[in-house]
Amino acid sequence: MTSISRALLALALASAAGAPRAADPNLKTEPVKATPVTEDSSAGKALYARYCTQCHGDEGKGDGPAADFVYPRPRDFTLALYKVRSTPSGQLPTDHDLFNVISEGLPGTSMPAWNKYLSENERWQLVHYVKTFDTLGLFKDEAPKQRIAVGSPPQMTPELIVRGKELYRSKKCWECHGKDGRGDGEKADTQKDDWGFPIRPVNFTKSWRFRAGDRVEDIYRTFTTGFNGTPMPSFVDAIPAAEDRWALAAFVKSLSRPQKTGQVLRARAVETEIPSDPWARQWEEIDYLDFPLAGQIIVKPRWFKPGHDVITARALYSAQEVAILLEWDDGTHNRGERGKPADQVALQFPAEKVTADEKPYFILGNAKRPVDYWFWNAADGLRRFTAEGAQKLAPRDAGSLSAKGEYRDGQYRVILRRPRKAASEHEVEFEPGRFVPVAFHLWDGEQGEEGLKMAISSWYYLLLEPPVPSTVYLWPLLAGCFAFGGELWFMRRLRRRREVRV
Ligand code: HEC
Ligand code: HEC
Repeated sequence: MTSISRALLALALASAAGAPRAADPNLKTEPVKATPVTEDSSAGKALYARYCTQCHGDEGKGDGPAADFVYPRPRDFTLALYKVRSTPSGQLPTDHDLFNVISEGLPGTSMPAWNKYLSENERWQLVHYVKTFDTLGLFKDEAPKQRIAVGSPPQMTPELIVRGKELYRSKKCWECHGKDGRGDGEKADTQKDDWGFPIRPVNFTKSWRFRAGDRVEDIYRTFTTGFNGTPMPSFVDAIPAAEDRWALAAFVKSLSRPQKTGQVLRARAVETEIPSDPWARQWEEIDYLDFPLAGQIIVKPRWFKPGHDVITARALYSAQEVAILLEWDDGTHNRGERGKPADQVALQFPAEKVTADEKPYFILGNAKRPVDYWFWNAADGLRRFTAEGAQKLAPRDAGSLSAKGEYRDGQYRVILRRPRKAASEHEVEFEPGRFVPVAFHLWDGEQGEEGLKMAISSWYYLLLEPPVPSTVYLWPLLAGCFAFGGELWFMRRLRRRREVRV
């Protein structure tokens, strides 16, 4: 960067930070806590070289060798722009803010929580060291002395949430975050951060991924401080009354639902017909599971940055049929237009009855153990294949398999259903009490995903819940689960990603 642009930037930052803010009557502040550990620059340097350079780069420019493989990109520390802070918009973070981020990581991104691996002293040395990349010398000149006092939240009443909802509408949060908060607003696709990289508004229904925390007081702090370097400003000027910001925080929190993970998708028995409307109440009333997904990087073309990292499923069965409802949020409805592939989803089952330790190879099976592949596409609906490997998909008649999919307000819901009895070759029978392996594949057309460029899960199980407690079936079966080296490795990888997220 030239010295002129550096000076201009410093000026812009200084005016954004601005002295007037400190006197802002709407912002209660309190003194910054003292930094408990003094700097040992050689220790900081060694730790940084060992643990941080692969993402943040040798010179802190966010350009390490892994940088191109993660979204969002690792932070470039040279401009001293930080997102998760306790200080007013435009200002630097406190040392404690940096310490917290390094310790807790940033959920929903690849930034790990280092408290699992590094001592407190080591993390403080990294705080000091990261600050040395500040090419503008701001940490020396303008170290924050005051931080925002968040205080304790008011009582969460329905009235408060209704007021928050009204502010969400009038302050146009929906333009980016979408009507129901799924990150699908009309401006969602066009946002860029200050480094010029595309950036997406956060999906409020999955608040476990909020980087700055998802307690009401965290959310309040986030839009009081703003995320520096992003289109997400502070709303202190737009929403000056603290009560209003609390109301909005309460509403944002009310949009989120808990994350539920597990190995077994339990199909609930229904006496009647299984509803064909994906938004029917009967579906809403049963339990869901969230299945983590990762990029398909086993077979070429490998895909490191998938658009989706989770898919949600529910299942019902009747005397004749079994049906699985798949649900995922997607900011754009791609139907194969504008030169982008259509959004797609697939379910994979073994094509023949198998025991737990005979599951097919987890990416589309092989000649010995083929898979039955149910595939739904937002442009032309259902297709079905028998696959004997990633390059060997044979189209087949859908038979009595049927699908119904819809896109509404940033969310897809697709029902795939089939008679329980196996009626043709290469399909399994669904009987109560029997665990049937199932895996999920998902494609985000907006990111150009098609073919093997996709997000995949490892094997899970579908269980038609028998009338007796089903746990008695579980353990003998799970014991045989981990038979394939590749899958084991893949699951470790998923687990690591999940660790980073929580
Ligand atoms: C696997 C990649 C990866 C590694 C390794 C990594 N980071 Fe990060 N880090 C990220 C990403 C990605 C972001 C930005 C996320 C975002 O913008 O939401 C980030 C952001 C940060 C931030 C900025 C937080 C904010 O509020 O803006 C700090 C500070 C940071 N990392 C410190 C470290 C330190 C110190 C290490 C080494 C101990 C480290 N990181 C290692 C990926 C990584
Ligand atoms: C111009 C688009 C835009 C508008 C308008 C907008 N946001 Fe955001 N918001 C974003 C983006 C982009 C991010 C993600 C920033 C990132 O990834 O670093 C974000 C992030 C957030 C987060 C952070 C969650 C976390 O990770 O901790 C919260 C909370 C939030 N917004 C609330 C709101 C509220 C409330 C409003 C309305 C008052 C609003 N936003 C209006 C674009 C917007």
